[in-house]
Amino acid sequence: MGASLEASMSFKEFQAKVDHIVHDHPVVTSNAYTKWVATGQMTDEDVRDLTIQFSVFSHYFIEAQLLNAQTLEQYHAGKEILMNELGVSFHTKGDAASEADDPDKVPTEGTVNGGKYRHTAAHFEWLLRFAQPLGLGFNEIGKWKLGTKSTHHFCNALKEWYGNPDPCVGAGASYAVENWAAAGFWKELIAGLEAYTKQSGKKLNLGFWHWHDMVEDQHAEHTQDELREDYDEAWFNEDDYVRGATHILDAVKVFWDGLNESRIQRAQTVTA
Ligand SMILES: [Fe+2]
Repeated sequence: MGASLEASMSFKEFQAKVDHIVHDHPVVTSNAYTKWVATGQMTDEDVRDLTIQFSVFSHYFIEAQLLNAQTLEQYHAGKEILMNELGVSFHTKGDAASEADDPDKVPTEGTVNGGKYRHTAAHFEWLLRFAQPLGLGFNEIGKWKLGTKSTHHFCNALKEWYGNPDPCVGAGASYAVENWAAAGFWKELIAGLEAYTKQSGKKLNLGFWHWHDMVEDQHAEHTQDELREDYDEAWFNEDDYVRGATHILDAVKVFWDGLNESRIQRAQTVTA
């Protein structure tokens, strides 16, 4: 608001620069693992590995999310995500809180404010519901000790960059994470998991994956408004923002590359 033409021109340039950093990063342009998943060739062990590593990252993302808040508005926005993650479904302002807890029925928009907590509306429980027919119970997902070195690297990086005490570094990481998440990897995973469901004949509940795919587009839209607001903050520094964005994307790539290496190794062991 009230920014001079010169200031808004340089904002546009900066916006184009971070957009380029995210959309041209190899984790967005050439994620070998999710592209392979989409081809529908996952074995039982591949699906279990994806589920376990994803569950560890999802679990520890909550901790980093708690630390990522630059302004009061973003603190509220962060809690909307957190509380929803933990089991308060969104509802539209003025409407009664949703009674549903099934991912195929709960809204992807609205607020948690005034909503109702339910154990079964927690995203981790949706993932558990998906995991059970694969032979994975509560003790076989989400635990730190189940993570590989690459998954641990990603979880640690989330805390370091996304939850960085420097608000500008954290804001850059947040922008990058949301835009990466909206760039299509959920759709690739869903394509692979749908193919696996058909091939295996297992009754898998894909609600966890579908719900997140639907919610991401809105998150990415919000990041443009947040970047505009952050840019005018006294703490904003272009280099720190870019540093947060780049480091977190590099770590996201380590996570997916770890899964890719494991599945290639498994395939080689089978054919050897
Ligand atoms: Fe979630």
